[in-house]
Amino acid sequence: MIKANKYYGDLEKSYLFSEIAARVRRHSEANPEQEILRLGIGDVTLPLAPAVIAALHEAVDDLASAERFYGYGPEQGYPFLREVIAENDYRARGIDVSADEIFISDGAKSDTGNFGDILAGDLTVAIADPVYPVYRDTNIMFGRKDSMIMLPCTAENGYTPSVPDQPCDLIYLCSPNNPTGAVMSRADLRDWVDYALANQSLILFDAAYESFISDADLVKSIFEIPGAEHCAVEFRSFSKSAGFTGLRCAYTIIKKITLINDGNGKMVPLHDLWLRRQTTRFNGASYLSQRAAAAVYTPEGKKEATAAIQYYKRNAEHIRSTLSNLGMAVTGGDNSPYVWARIPEGYTSWEYFDYLLKNFGIVVTPGSGFGSCGEGYVRFSAFGAWETCRKAMALISKSRDQ
Ligand code: MLT
Repeated sequence: MIKANKYYGDLEKSYLFSEIAARVRRHSEANPEQEILRLGIGDVTLPLAPAVIAALHEAVDDLASAERFYGYGPEQGYPFLREVIAENDYRARGIDVSADEIFISDGAKSDTGNFGDILAGDLTVAIADPVYPVYRDTNIMFGRKDSMIMLPCTAENGYTPSVPDQPCDLIYLCSPNNPTGAVMSRADLRDWVDYALANQSLILFDAAYESFISDADLVKSIFEIPGAEHCAVEFRSFSKSAGFTGLRCAYTIIKKITLINDGNGKMVPLHDLWLRRQTTRFNGASYLSQRAAAAVYTPEGKKEATAAIQYYKRNAEHIRSTLSNLGMAVTGGDNSPYVWARIPEGYTSWEYFDYLLKNFGIVVTPGSGFGSCGEGYVRFSAFGAWETCRKAMALISKSRDQ
């Protein structure tokens, strides 16, 4: 008899952002005249950069030409993209990553979610609380609900997870952090790498928001930390760095020297397992999105991507300073597109979400959706239009409850 994966029964009924979208839709239908100010999901609002659009047009022409037509591409991604990533994002910063250690995909969400495919089921998993729900939910789907070690990230520890005092096999770290906007220091990351090496653990490092780091002392890649090449995988995305949330393109770095126990005691390259997984289950990101992503590394592409990041950072600064001037405790928003704000006494996160939506049409993300330590907070995304941020902050400034 066919049966479902029973672990799906351990999940919340719907995914956080689907639940928010449904609530906003219902509210809009009931209040069609109210303007909705979206500072909820981290979805970009600026159009793709001109250099990216030009590359897309050229790529479409390639697909229209019998001589230059592209069918299936390499599952790992086209060399033209992998080369520019290795050169610009790593070697130019003194980090040793080669093109064949890069796997192009359609998103960091799918890569971080799918990574469990190549790992054993009976692992202990360290996950921050609050956390990007994909890490938590996909581990629940793999049946690891009871073997998750939640790492509280609170005002007391600067919203930074500390190494646990017990061994743990798999570790998810995200810096700049979604949802808190906190950025882990070099010393914090060194602690984690040392811990992973000592415990033969694997760190899955989500660097999807690294392009928002402007402080030169902060770490953008886990591979800046000596030893990480033996115990870490890094995930990056063009979604937030170049506005590809609709176009889709991301990449994952697995160093060839990273080894993992094959389940029978033999150490094998993790890279080979992921390659085997990807070649079997994935036919690569589209030629169009990869050509578009390569354009991000041209001189114009770099300039335009930087301008877009600056635009969102201005939003973040405006949100952060407005809330802070109102006396709300806030973190993030400086080297990150997310501002994490303590809500007024007397509300739960979902109640404050409802309050902002019903009274002002403002959409945020309730902190408790990211984990129990997120209760009492909401997350503001800086990816909205400037005008949206400005209006939302003006309304909150005038509101009864800040
Ligand atoms: C978020 O709002 O947390 C992100 O946009 C979700 C994602 O990247 O999948």
